[in-house]
Amino acid sequence: MAVNPLDIDDMDLSEVEDLRDATWSPSLRAIPVAGIRKMVNLAARMDDVIHLSIGQPNFPTPRHIIDAYIDALEAGQTGYTMDAGLPELLTALAEYYSERYGREIIEDNILVTAGATEAMYLALTATAAPGRQFLVTDPTFLLYAPLIRMNGGEVKLIPTRAEHGHQLDPQEVIDAINMRTYGIVLNSPSNPTGTVYPKETIEAILEECAYRGIYVFSDEVYDHLVLDDMEYPSVLRHALDLDNIMVASSFSKTYSMAGLRIGWVIASQAAIKKLRRYHMFTTTVANTPAQWAGIAALKGPRECVDDMVKEYAERRDRVVQLVADTPHLTGYWPQGAFYIFPSLPPNVSANTVCLRMLKETGVCTVPGDAFGESCPNSLRISYSTSLDKINEAFERIIPWMEKQKF
Ligand SMILES: Cc1ncc(COP(=O)(O)O)c(C=O)c1O
Repeated sequence: MAVNPLDIDDMDLSEVEDLRDATWSPSLRAIPVAGIRKMVNLAARMDDVIHLSIGQPNFPTPRHIIDAYIDALEAGQTGYTMDAGLPELLTALAEYYSERYGREIIEDNILVTAGATEAMYLALTATAAPGRQFLVTDPTFLLYAPLIRMNGGEVKLIPTRAEHGHQLDPQEVIDAINMRTYGIVLNSPSNPTGTVYPKETIEAILEECAYRGIYVFSDEVYDHLVLDDMEYPSVLRHALDLDNIMVASSFSKTYSMAGLRIGWVIASQAAIKKLRRYHMFTTTVANTPAQWAGIAALKGPRECVDDMVKEYAERRDRVVQLVADTPHLTGYWPQGAFYIFPSLPPNVSANTVCLRMLKETGVCTVPGDAFGESCPNSLRISYSTSLDKINEAFERIIPWMEKQKF
């Protein structure tokens, strides 16, 4: 099974020992060894495992995107592009975003990267420095805090709670700001919770941050996987200007093309100029034929995305129901991405439960401590798998949970 290495880490223990070796930069110590390694290693040795642990879409990449990729190769599009990205892709993205959010985004506001991962990498490592504090929600995608810490920045975690559907309280964010606060990292729809922050939350945070000159880094990689009938509250839609925001996204989730590795960062022209220099010294340019495939994605038919979103929404409805039917699990209503992050009773270790559940039922989930410090009793369930598999997984989980005495 192919996995996102950031999501599921199979680093060997000897590698942790290596970090104590003087050969390596101490900054490598900021990269955690994911607590789920044991699970994934174990799952790999087992037969008949159902994975509710996948962090990438399970749909095939739409045909017209594959064709555009192949056509680009056939046409000899195998050299470097301009460092900021293929001009045709920059224009397509600028037109697309300007129309989607009703604000002017020009080519110079965009830098094409190797996925949203590189976009967030550039944004965070180009700004993190000793003495600068970044607010990061907890639980959160694994990438942000290590990148900040590797560069000497300080991370202040803002816990969100299952009983509030992991919504972020803007007042808690405002209260957490102090003299050292340099930026805040947002990710909505969220991995691992599937939570979508409403427009009021985004607006309140943006307003306070603009007032105080604090940067808002927004990972919007799931910006199309919004499963209820709502207008997606993007930072790009609600920010007054681009002065203190950097927004990352990619084609990975929307078009099920994670392996083609095309993402981008949108920011002020001044910020993009700086990030371009950094990008040249990091990956140089993004994959050229994949950028052509990206143009086909943006300009091609929209039904493929609508169909995927419809299917995710059906699965979400079913998973929410199944979680509610499962003894000891408390869920909520996730509105986006393809995750739910239900909790076990307080003080129950999800790490132990996930491991035992995998061993005894063959269902692989991800324990909450892989995503932060505040949710050791939660687990991430991904519904990036078929409804049949989801049903089969819960046919195993529910009777198993009935027998547990927590
Ligand atoms: C929140 C979040 N950001 C970024 C990524 C990586 O995206 P990309 O494939 O565009 O690098 C993922 C992938 O799981 C994710 O969940």
